[in-house]
Amino acid sequence: MCGIVGYVGNKPSLDVLIGGLKRLEYRGYDSAGVAVIAPDGSLNTRKRAGKLNRLTDDLAADALHDGTTGIGHTRWATHGGPTDGNAHPHLGDDGKLALIHNGIIENFSELKAELLARGHEFTSETDTEVAALLLGDEYRRTGNLTVAFRDVVARLHGAFTLLAVHQDEPGVVVGARRNSPLVIGLGEGENFLGSDVAAFVEHTRRAMEIGQDQIVTIRPDSVTVTDFDGEPVETREFEVAWDASAAEKGGWSSFMAKEISEEPDAIANTLRGRIGDGVTDLSELDSIAAALKDADRVLILACGTAYYSGLLGKYAIEKWAGVPADVELAHEFRYRDPVLSPGTLVISVSQSGETMDTLMAVKYAKERGATTLSICNTQGATIARESSAALFTHAGPEVAVASTKAFVAQVVALYLVALHLAELRGSRSPEEIADDLDQLQALPAKLSKVLESGERIADLARGMSDTRSVLFLGRNVGYPIALEGALKLKEIAYIHAEGFAAGELKHGPISLIEPGQRVFVVVPSPRDSNSLHPKVVSNIQEIRARGAHVIAIAEEGDVAVLPFADDVLRIPLAGPLFEPLLAVAPLQIFAMELAAAKGLDVDQPRNLAKSVTVE
Ligand code: G6P
Repeated sequence: MCGIVGYVGNKPSLDVLIGGLKRLEYRGYDSAGVAVIAPDGSLNTRKRAGKLNRLTDDLAADALHDGTTGIGHTRWATHGGPTDGNAHPHLGDDGKLALIHNGIIENFSELKAELLARGHEFTSETDTEVAALLLGDEYRRTGNLTVAFRDVVARLHGAFTLLAVHQDEPGVVVGARRNSPLVIGLGEGENFLGSDVAAFVEHTRRAMEIGQDQIVTIRPDSVTVTDFDGEPVETREFEVAWDASAAEKGGWSSFMAKEISEEPDAIANTLRGRIGDGVTDLSELDSIAAALKDADRVLILACGTAYYSGLLGKYAIEKWAGVPADVELAHEFRYRDPVLSPGTLVISVSQSGETMDTLMAVKYAKERGATTLSICNTQGATIARESSAALFTHAGPEVAVASTKAFVAQVVALYLVALHLAELRGSRSPEEIADDLDQLQALPAKLSKVLESGERIADLARGMSDTRSVLFLGRNVGYPIALEGALKLKEIAYIHAEGFAAGELKHGPISLIEPGQRVFVVVPSPRDSNSLHPKVVSNIQEIRARGAHVIAIAEEGDVAVLPFADDVLRIPLAGPLFEPLLAVAPLQIFAMELAAAKGLDVDQPRNLAKSVTVE
């Protein structure tokens, strides 16, 4: 949600900034803009509404006087529509200073009134412009961008990452963060700032975290980090675990297609080094072992796709570890006076590790004394830093807005945690645990087989490009998959879709069934010991009798569905809790192919952003 990049060094800054913005565009694509300080000391800015290519076309047609210091921004609009005027950067100090922002300045109205009273004029409807004008005034007073920043951040409420340059301080970019992301990239004779490491990984894999309420000043040969009072703080360097090619589209038609194809690797990489001889090997959780052992309740907090992975985690934790588990949307949890017992283990799940709703919920739980474990895919992410312990998924960078490979990696990580809890508490026999771990390790090969049916699913999707509504049914662990299938279709194909628990059908949703209504049904295995299979097959018969067009996702060899389904997509045999990890890919591919058949941008759906850093 808004991508930010800053550069000082020895290269033409526009190349670095545009390259960084391309990799950050998944964070928002309502407008884009840059500001650079040219060798003659002038500050030059250009900004355009629309996707980044509007800006790059504009720069190609009319070059900007470049230099080696600059900042760039890609926006997801909050205050003020996606217009040229509302695009960042915003200017202060009579156009000598440029500032970009990610987040929301909650007290902007009051600051705006103050600035208007001082005689300032506003050129945008954004909350950001108050920060640019305030910083300009402070710069004029102090003559030092870093010092001016300290004065300004002290006056801001809300969430922000701010970067600024001033033409009288060439070779300097200053940034500050509170609750919005910012990472430093360390180069030779050059340094970088970015919303995440994707902004600079093309140039350096050496990165440094910036904590909450800290200010960073980068110059070509130095990086200084302080708190908001100007006191030095401890910093931590880390090596980015992937290189720039991992975030390239390669020969794929979309990032989403590439990322779905990477799901088997995402699972294998998340398991790698975490399984010993029939036991889990999760040293990351050693520091919270006592809390894991004694937890009387697990509460999983997440949003979007990560929430659905949490629903699967609940089934695994209750079944294997015997601990009551609940899953809540982080934004609902945070503002309803939730009761947390001292024995509650809070697990947050987030691909980006920056989702503001999830971050706020984790902070809230932490303040109330809960042990917090984060499952996160992005190194250096805020939620991981704010948690008692972190277990990183190794899905690699996910660029498409709709989450796919991160989802399967999250589920696998939650299953590892569930089995680890089972070991610590002795709730499952060593043989059963060893068997579960074997099943996890068998998933990548099985999933690769599922992906081979991509073309068939594409045909199915193309035949439905005029569909206005699709329903998804699932039961038990098939239910979160039904919800996720519906979410994918909404997100990228803009088709009304709902996921239902199959058992709930008769309590209402069945009235939606009319002739021709497309319904996907995730069918449990007929080998399943709790005999849900016949119940779901009955559900299929019930909707078929009312004219539904049924697409079943069923295990290989399950012939019971054949007489009642219009289409059957097959998945290999797996244990009950493992089936969802195979059943989700066909639904992801279906949504992607349907969106593509409608001519939509699969990777950058309208109105959405990948990393939602506002509440
Ligand atoms: C946004 C994205 C979703 C994502 C959700 C949670 O809504 O569009 O794809 O599932 O945020 O993101 P997280 O990074 O916390 O997993």
